[in-house]
Amino acid sequence: MDEKELMLSIRKIVDEAMEQLGKIQDGEGLEKWRIQYFGRKGTFASMTGRIPQMAVEIRPRAGALINDAKGQLTEAFEQKKTLLTQQGHKRTEHAVNFSLPGLRPETGTLHPVTLVSREIVRIFQGLGFGVHVGPEIETDFYNFEALNMPADHPARDMWDTFYLDPERKFLLRTHTSPVQIRIMEKISVPLRIIAIGKTFRRDDFDASHSPVFHQVEGLMVGHDITFSNLKAVLIFFLKELFGTRVKVRFLPSYFPFTEPSAEISISCVICDGRGCQTCGSTGWLEILGAGMVHPEVFRKSGIRQKNITGFAFGAGLERITMIKYGIDDIRQFYTGDIRFLKQFG
Ligand code: PHE
Repeated sequence: MDEKELMLSIRKIVDEAMEQLGKIQDGEGLEKWRIQYFGRKGTFASMTGRIPQMAVEIRPRAGALINDAKGQLTEAFEQKKTLLTQQGHKRTEHAVNFSLPGLRPETGTLHPVTLVSREIVRIFQGLGFGVHVGPEIETDFYNFEALNMPADHPARDMWDTFYLDPERKFLLRTHTSPVQIRIMEKISVPLRIIAIGKTFRRDDFDASHSPVFHQVEGLMVGHDITFSNLKAVLIFFLKELFGTRVKVRFLPSYFPFTEPSAEISISCVICDGRGCQTCGSTGWLEILGAGMVHPEVFRKSGIRQKNITGFAFGAGLERITMIKYGIDDIRQFYTGDIRFLKQFG
């Protein structure tokens, strides 16, 4: 073999080796390749082994050419190794994608009735109303008598009452109005408060009734408080809660503890007052009971000053929440179904 033939055969080997290297996909293939060319019985080993049989003049040249080829292929081998390692990392990234959001632990949300009661508290606090709670177990005096309903008063039938003892002295409050009396006994006039809490009635559980529900009560008492103040406060409240588009309607009504009394409705938020299923085609949704505090209620609460007047109102929180969020069955509030509750929080 002369020098030229030697050069050509080495170049052929290098070209082949480079081509094979280019096709290698993984570490296993790369290792096979390394053994094929650089192993103890590999291509270069056997070429080096043949040098002593070559003509003396070309031996040094042969050694140099083989070393050049080895250097070139070693460099290509290292590059390929780095490339495969990088690709390997990419593949692992696919298997565990760190950019995906993690699995969040299930957390609760605020109950829609809680959200609405917070909203109501916010509105009334903005008007300078204090926020109070009263006891859920009441006496006949606070729930009825002091609210101008002496024993056997027919208006007591307006509320189906859970009594706690045979003498019917203790009961679960049927409304939040007894808080009016407790506040007037405790706080001096002028005063303005709301009270929020649970109320209880012996109603059957159906789409619009629950034996336990929540009410918000309001009371404003002072010198020369008039029905205009009642209207202003309640219209402001309802527009804050339902949006300025709603219309507010006052109709005469009856409660033993207010005189005059009113029933207050808003224009239907579903159909904008045109009439639909929700508002029973009337265009109105009844939402509050209210009126001017009856003089007998002041007397029973120990308020004796002259020229003291006031207004009071009461509303069911579940009803307000149902109207605000378009919920058609009150029972949804008490199922604890997180899929329902999550829609609001
Ligand atoms: N307590 C009344 C009810 O439960 C509502 C109301 C409160 C009416 C205050 C007038 C004044 O029906």
